[in-house]
Amino acid sequence: MEYKKLGRTGLKVSALCMGTMQFGWSLNEEDSHRVLSATYDAGINFIDTADIYSKWVDGNPGGIAETYLGNWVKENKIPRNKIVIATKVRGEMGKGPNDQGLSRVHILKAVDSSLRRLQTDYIDLYQSHWTDDDTPIDETLRAFDDLVRQGKVRYIGASNYAAWELMQALWTSDKYNLARYDSLQPHYNLIYREEFERELRAVCEMYDIGVIPYSPLAGGFLTGKYRKNEALPESRRAEGRKRAMTEKNFELLYEIEAIALRHKASISQVALAWMLADPVITSPIIGATTVEQLNENLGALNIHLTAEERDALNKMTAWKRES
Ligand SMILES: NC(=O)c1ccc[n+]([C@@H]2O[C@H](COP(=O)([O-])OP(=O)(O)OC[C@H]3O[C@@H](n4cnc5c(N)ncnc54)[C@H](OP(=O)(O)O)[C@@H]3O)[C@@H](O)[C@H]2O)c1
Repeated sequence: MEYKKLGRTGLKVSALCMGTMQFGWSLNEEDSHRVLSATYDAGINFIDTADIYSKWVDGNPGGIAETYLGNWVKENKIPRNKIVIATKVRGEMGKGPNDQGLSRVHILKAVDSSLRRLQTDYIDLYQSHWTDDDTPIDETLRAFDDLVRQGKVRYIGASNYAAWELMQALWTSDKYNLARYDSLQPHYNLIYREEFERELRAVCEMYDIGVIPYSPLAGGFLTGKYRKNEALPESRRAEGRKRAMTEKNFELLYEIEAIALRHKASISQVALAWMLADPVITSPIIGATTVEQLNENLGALNIHLTAEERDALNKMTAWKRES
């Protein structure tokens, strides 16, 4: 396994990160633990979760993914310093007016709840899940900075920020000498490029911010199991993938498949290899629901696309016309 610096920090994370959004949704606790053990055995040290995973499931109070992860660490006696735990705050964890957001009051409460569920006394990377228009950014950053100073949090990051919001946060940290966002978790993959590439990419490059994209396989579409004129595959996410099932995206799948054949690889491996070849990317966050899926995705680390292959994929998925 290759380990990379997370942006400008000294923290080393594996070239793939394991996501946990599927825990308590597509996966029960036993199966989640099986995936985590295989992840750890493969050398992946970087695990992404969030307090709200997976609260959208009926009857699920949220915090389930953190609980499963904390139980797995404890039951398997995983040395805490061998894994990098990234979690998030912002989502609605209760019905009260202060049970969500990035206010000081919510962050200070949410971190203690996450620490309790994770059964640890520190979080390696604490991320704003998305922005909070009701809270000034200096309030959020000062609360995070206090957590860093108290030792409850090692580094902080942002997810789903626009470029101007990320810049504003960086200036604020600089102005008040507060901990700064050292990672960005954007939605990014071969069929969803514009949001990251338009301006965020340049900010991350200029300020040496680690980039850990989520949904690198477009939630399963970029594995090839969603086919034109065929029934949807068995998956709790299948309905949501319908919007990706366009003529343009199926053309892309044929191209990826042709490249995959040349490399004796799978479609998902080529889609991941495209992202892994990009020097601005630190660690894509994958969301395998089985050990077999995980193993297939790990194979992407050994696929090296040629410049022509990358060009072909880039041309088919470009969001701006080349001048
Ligand atoms: N910050 C945010 O707002 C945000 C948002 C979304 C996700 N995330 C993070 O990113 C992680 C990954 O997101 P994601 O789950 O959307 O990633 P993804 O890698 O694009 O999609 C993962 C899904 O694709 C299918 N899959 C994966 N590998 C496969 C393979 N080799 N063969 C066949 N199917 C395969 C599985 O679904 P099925 O088995 O159900 O088909 C799996 O759940 C999450 O767990 C979470 O940690 C963050």
